[in-house]
Amino acid sequence: MNIIAPSAALVTAIGSTFLRRIGFVVAIPIPIPIPYPYPQPTDRTELTTQMRRQHMAASDSRDSGSQHSESSESDPGSPPYGLPSHGPRVSRRKVLVSVGGSLVVLVVGGTVWRSADQGVFSTGQGPAYQPWYDWRSAIGRPVDLIRAAILAANPHDSQPWLFHDTDTHIDLFADTRRNIGLADPFLSELHIGLGCALENLVLAAPANGYAPRVTLFPDAMDATKIATVDLQPSASSASALYQAIPHRHTNHYPYDTHHPVGQTTVDALSALNTDPQVQVLWVAAATAGQQLGKLMVEAAHAFVADKPLVQDDDRWYRATWQDVQRYRDGITLDAAGLPDLPRALGKILPPASPAQQHDYFLQGVQTQVQTAGVLGIIAVRDKRDKRDKRDNGERLREDRLWQRMHLWATTNGLAMQPLNQLTEMADREIVLASTSRFGEALRELVGNPTWQAIMTFRVGYPTHEALLSPRRALSDVLTP
Ligand SMILES: Cc1cc2nc3c(=O)[nH]c(=O)nc-3n(C[C@H](O)[C@H](O)[C@H](O)COP(=O)(O)O)c2cc1C
Repeated sequence: MNIIAPSAALVTAIGSTFLRRIGFVVAIPIPIPIPYPYPQPTDRTELTTQMRRQHMAASDSRDSGSQHSESSESDPGSPPYGLPSHGPRVSRRKVLVSVGGSLVVLVVGGTVWRSADQGVFSTGQGPAYQPWYDWRSAIGRPVDLIRAAILAANPHDSQPWLFHDTDTHIDLFADTRRNIGLADPFLSELHIGLGCALENLVLAAPANGYAPRVTLFPDAMDATKIATVDLQPSASSASALYQAIPHRHTNHYPYDTHHPVGQTTVDALSALNTDPQVQVLWVAAATAGQQLGKLMVEAAHAFVADKPLVQDDDRWYRATWQDVQRYRDGITLDAAGLPDLPRALGKILPPASPAQQHDYFLQGVQTQVQTAGVLGIIAVRDKRDKRDKRDNGERLREDRLWQRMHLWATTNGLAMQPLNQLTEMADREIVLASTSRFGEALRELVGNPTWQAIMTFRVGYPTHEALLSPRRALSDVLTP
């Protein structure tokens, strides 16, 4: 689950925070160069001479008993020390306008500076996004397949993978240090992410002139060695799914409710699954989807109410542009599906409080569910115990399906998003040995006790192009 999300209320919330912030900026006493309203002496000597003359004139008039010095009569508000009062008078309005203008310049300047510093004008740019543009900068060597693999979907953009390449094969390893934590206690999401990377790797093989042969868990003694892909030279061919790799992005925006997802599309997505141990269950958003959607929202509420879970999850949130470029992973504002203005304000302003963030997230999930074309569940034959991590090996075959479906959806103008809070909360119930509310509800939805839900998601037509998520450099994911 990604705790960051769009909402209409966010615009208002961020807008008012922004105004408060501006108010704060204006209240700071800043020395501002105000145009001096009097003719100014050119140097110190002239000023002294003028002051002396004024002083003498004042003494003369006092000496002559006059109560009406020229200056006091004509200008009761004249400055002290006899500064010349005969220059053009500047109204209070002009001064205020001048001060206001300087403040506006300062605020605008500060905002522009902060915007540039926080990447408002650099969406999808910088080293963190380079792998999306470099993915075909070189082709033909085994290492070039890895450029495609690292663009795969994965939980929280944690990128839990490592690769070892030789001239004849590539090994894929799980980097379990990069697991997302309490939300994935049995590492099943981590393995789905690895399955997605493996799918991209296999699709990239023919495009780079190789025929791939995959062996899952080639080393019985090493559970982190997920797969070996042997590569035989072959004629090169680039499939449509391969070409979709850099265009596939998880789309968190609301989907187009005027553009329903037809049965043909749903059937075509289902047909991408060739494994009898896996099935995709579809629920039209308007009917049974209401029940699944309601559960998704309830699970999101249960997630944010679980403090240890939320705190642990927050580690993956990259709040500043500097962190995005430094860590090149995690959940970012840009990829969160926010409308453009709140997204920009979200970057410029100090981070929202955890309570606000959770509110945005919950409203976001609600919108995501309400605007879904169809909701889906990927289920696997439940011959395994989730608590036994070795079972994730078998599950890998199924895990490639998500990436395949998402690539196909991309080529067909569809948007997709996992909404996994339900499976995450079902796992949490197992860990806490609490009442199996979400686990039981999922089992009911799947409708067959021999099948187990591993992922829940939505599909629809996009209202907004999804933005890029960061990726670590190729050199960071290679292991000797
Ligand atoms: C196993 C798995 C679980 C995921 N769960 C969620 C989720 O609950 N909510 C969500 O918005 N995105 C979810 N995602 C999407 C990831 O956040 C996304 O793939 C990752 O940030 C990389 O971004 P990209 O897909 O745009 O390349 C999930 C992805 C995977 C593979």
